[in-house]
Amino acid sequence: MDRLEGKVALVTGAGSGIGKASSLRFAAEGAAVMCVDLDEASAQGTAAAIAEGGGSSAALRVDVTDQEAVRAACEETVRELGGLDVLYNNAGIGRAAWDATIAVNLSGVSYGLRHGGALMAERGGGSIISTASIAGLVGLVSSRVTEFPPVDGSGAYIAAKHGVVGLTRQFALIYADYGVRVNAIAPGYIRTPLVSETLEDPEAVAYLESLHPLGRLGEPEEIAAAAAFLASDDASFITGITLPVDGGYTAR
Ligand SMILES: NC(=O)c1ccc[n+]([C@@H]2O[C@H](COP(=O)([O-])OP(=O)(O)OC[C@H]3O[C@@H](n4cnc5c(N)ncnc54)[C@H](O)[C@@H]3O)[C@@H](O)[C@H]2O)c1
Repeated sequence: MDRLEGKVALVTGAGSGIGKASSLRFAAEGAAVMCVDLDEASAQGTAAAIAEGGGSSAALRVDVTDQEAVRAACEETVRELGGLDVLYNNAGIGRAAWDATIAVNLSGVSYGLRHGGALMAERGGGSIISTASIAGLVGLVSSRVTEFPPVDGSGAYIAAKHGVVGLTRQFALIYADYGVRVNAIAPGYIRTPLVSETLEDPEAVAYLESLHPLGRLGEPEEIAAAAAFLASDDASFITGITLPVDGGYTAR
C-alpha cells in the first residue's frame, strides 16, 4: 500500500515499541519519517532501519515535556523533510510518579496538538494521531491497590490518558475548519518494552490475556496498522474519535 506516498510524518517515541512499528509502517506506505525520541540512539536506529529499506527518514532527540523543543521539532521536520502532513503523538511512560506521568503522557501530547496542529493548519491540513489507551476509556482492574494511601502516581496514567481522549475531541473541533483531522488510538495491552516487567511473569500475562476477549495481548504492528489508516486519506471523514485497538477489552 502506498497511502502515505509524498507525505511527511513526525512520530514521537519512535525509538521503541508502538512508535517504532508505526514509523516503519508509515515509511512502508511511502511517508518520509522524522523519528523523535528522548533516547537519541533509538530514534537514530529506527531512522536507519527506514533508510536501509529505501525510505526517507531523519532523527531528532526531543523531550516531549519541553514545549519549545516540540515546536522546534515540527519546524525542523518541514525544513529537513519538506513538510508535515502526519503527526503521531505517541511517546509515553508507565508506572511513574504523578507529575512525570502527566508531563509526558498529557502535556507532551498537548504540545504536539498545539504546535504541530498550528503548523499543519497554516500549511493547509494534515492528520494528527495520539496514543491514548484503554486507560483513557475505562479504569484498569489490574491497577487495583492494596495499600492506602495509594502510592504517588496512582491514577496518573488513567488521568493522563482520559485527558488525551478529551484533547482529541477539543483539538478536532479547533482545527476542523483548517483541514487538520485529530484522532487517537486506545491500545489494549501491547507487547512492548513499556510492559516488559509484566511480560516476564507468566501468571500476570495469562491474567491480562484473559481481560482481552480475543484471548491474547496485542502486537505493536497492530497499532501501527490503525495509525496508518487514521493518517491516510482512507480516514478522510474521521476526526475527534478515539479508536480502541484492544482485542475487545472495552467491549464488555
Ligand atoms: N504497551 C502497552 O501495553 C500500551 C497500552 C496502551 C497505551 N500505550 C501507550 O503507547 C505509547 C507507546 O508506548 P510503548 O508501549 O510503545 O512503550 P515503549 O516504552 O516501547 O516506547 C515509548 C518510547 O517513548 C519514549 N519516551 C519516553 N519519554 C519520552 C519523552 N519525555 N520524550 C520523548 N520520548 C519519550 C521512550 O524513550 C520510548 O522509546 C505510550 O503513550 C503508552 O502509554 C502502551
